[in-house]
Amino acid sequence: MPAPLRLGLAGLGTVGIGVVRIVQRHADLIAARAGRQVQITAVSARDRSKSRDADLSAFAWESDPVALARRDDVDLFIEVMGGADGPAKHATEAAIAAGKDVVSANKALLAHHGQALAEAAEAKGHVIRFEAAVAGGIPAIKALTEGLAGNRIRRVIGVLNGTCNYILTRMESAGLPYDAVFEEARALGYLEADPTLDVGGIDAAHKLSLLAAIAFGTRVSFDTVEIDGIGKISVEDIRRAADLGFRIKLLGVAQVTGRGLEQRMTPCLVPADSPLGQLQGGTNMVVLEGDAAGQIVLRGAGAGEGPTASAVMADVIDIARGSRLSTFGQPAHSLAPPIPAAAATPAPHYLRMTLLDRPGALAKIATALGDAGISIDRMRQYGHLGAHAPVLIVTHKAAPQDIAHAISRFAATGVLVGEPVAIRIEEV
Ligand code: NAP
Ligand code: HSE
Repeated sequence: MPAPLRLGLAGLGTVGIGVVRIVQRHADLIAARAGRQVQITAVSARDRSKSRDADLSAFAWESDPVALARRDDVDLFIEVMGGADGPAKHATEAAIAAGKDVVSANKALLAHHGQALAEAAEAKGHVIRFEAAVAGGIPAIKALTEGLAGNRIRRVIGVLNGTCNYILTRMESAGLPYDAVFEEARALGYLEADPTLDVGGIDAAHKLSLLAAIAFGTRVSFDTVEIDGIGKISVEDIRRAADLGFRIKLLGVAQVTGRGLEQRMTPCLVPADSPLGQLQGGTNMVVLEGDAAGQIVLRGAGAGEGPTASAVMADVIDIARGSRLSTFGQPAHSLAPPIPAAAATPAPHYLRMTLLDRPGALAKIATALGDAGISIDRMRQYGHLGAHAPVLIVTHKAAPQDIAHAISRFAATGVLVGEPVAIRIEEV
């Protein structure tokens, strides 16, 4: 049997301890599948005295993850500390400079520095793998880089943040407002230390930018992802969308059109009976559309100890087997500079507004839409609230900038009460 693959594990939190448990529990199974032993030789975390409910006695301890990355008895460096910069970046760079392969679960690091790290690793003949960074236990990276390698990818769609999906589905099922469910999620420990990473759509956008790089052979372009979080979604919109046969999801969409590379992580309506519409709770879904394979739907746990460590170990075992796959599925130097789309593809939109209940009010709104070149597909007026009439409109396909222009004209009609809501309807 070849020499064991020796792991240096930086981070002993949720993911790191999950990795320790799988390596210890499945040592024989992993050796049989990898064709060699896989052993942890050294670990690092901030606080050595912390109780971690795992037997770490066989591993050397390094308080500095950079020192861990440089150890002679480490072949493969696993970075599961987190953070776009700081120790995670320094230690990953040190590992590459020291000639190690790297496995990371860190989407923030890769979304910001993936291109430079991949180029540095590949220049030295080393690999960086990051299955765990996108959609936890779902093998989305493997599906794109390997299973669909013969396809031109048309579109990548994803519900990539379980916390947001939990909040939105709980708002619907319990009829609770956003703020109350946000606090529930906090109490359940679902939120990142900085919750805006979750509810602001940033965490999910990190993941989308990584999928897009692989899917379209472009350099990771996190800065050009259009991002909008779920903080403005109301129970009323969730209910009204349901009346029309839709559910609201924080949806990631990446595609290349004649306009360029489009990457969006924004609340969207999707058909309630579609796989995305049916996705409940903290689960993730990745939908990959290839020109030959058609639509592939992957669903599973996007977070948690077991699923995320499972994905880390898939990368570790691949490397132990001798796989030298490029970080983004093709050599990093060959990735094209992305040409970001100036505007998103036209789509139907859901518009909700409250109008003064007076003759001609609806006509004024319809005229403002018509003047912006927007055609109405369906509309519904709900029971009056005093002198106010709640109105829903579903448009035919319209450019987002035309929708914004029409809405900017609504105020001048003199019939609008409060702020209208506009949400894109994604055809999935
Ligand atoms: P976590 O529970 O907060 O654990 C982080 C670990 O890193 C801790 O053991 C911490 O040490 C250690 N650490 C932090 N700074 C360090 C430093 N300067 N030097 C040495 N060790 C340091 O985080 P996690 O949930 O396991 O997440 C780890 C990574 O996986 C992140 O990039 C995250 O985005 C990603 N990820 C997590 C999940 C998930 O479900 N949790 C899913 C997908 C991806 P102490 O324990 O001593 O504080
Ligand atoms: N905070 C993330 C989520 C988990 O809720 O999906 C790790 O990516």
